[in-house]
Amino acid sequence: METIEITAVIFDLDGVIADTSEYHYLSWQRLADEEGLPFDRQVNERLRGKSRRASLDIILGGHTVDDEQAAAWLERKNDYFMQIFRDHATECLLPGVVPLIQELRLAGIKVGVGSASRNARWILQQLGIAELLDAIIDGLDVEHSKPAPDVFLHVADQMGVAAAHCVVLEDAAAGIEAALAAGMWVIGLGPGQRVGHAHARFDSLEGVTPAAIIAALAGASRRTPTPNPQPPTPQPPTPQPPTPHAGTLAGRWAS
Ligand code: BG6
Ligand code: MG
Repeated sequence: METIEITAVIFDLDGVIADTSEYHYLSWQRLADEEGLPFDRQVNERLRGKSRRASLDIILGGHTVDDEQAAAWLERKNDYFMQIFRDHATECLLPGVVPLIQELRLAGIKVGVGSASRNARWILQQLGIAELLDAIIDGLDVEHSKPAPDVFLHVADQMGVAAAHCVVLEDAAAGIEAALAAGMWVIGLGPGQRVGHAHARFDSLEGVTPAAIIAALAGASRRTPTPNPQPPTPQPPTPQPPTPHAGTLAGRWAS
């Protein structure tokens, strides 16, 4: 028998906590229309989990623009996104997220967010859930974006939790690769063709409990997460001893 011990849950933001994909789509579409760039929903789907600059490179599809032009387009796209988000913030909080965070906190499990978005803190504040989180690491904090493991390793570091005791909740293929590279457990949210490489999968977080997370991992066909092969980008140390009330979700399955 092997034991799964989970002491922290790390949420991705876009597509896991907040349903922002349509807002990103509308903002990119507006910019693309204005600049005559080819863009559609299929291209938008490929941007899931990718950083702002990586997204522009995908849209450009091999064409290049200078850094000044890219920065101006990205700022304009982000202005469009923030305008839409401001008007629709409360509508995009996904069902099941707040109850799950509350149950995890009650069980003494640390809760963090690891996002590629440079807007993550602002979005979490707008949604009124920033105070529920033990750590937030976003696209402003790391040099290497998903699928690099850095964002999740830094969240775990801030929470004082070992990677092997973290489970990541992710909707993007790149985010699942990042969590696996970090040596963490990962549950994919969405269709199997997108998130099938995670240890387990849910359609969404609606109705998901801490016990359901452990049960899903216990049923996973893979074994213990592989250790992270690469250290994260050096950061100032943030030593944080575990809190005396830290809890553990544990489960067992036959090896
Ligand atoms: C990710 C989203 O979380 O953040 C992507 O899945 C988005 O669609 C990326 O492009 C960057 O977001 P932002 O807010 O920094 O433009
Ligand atoms: Mg996402």
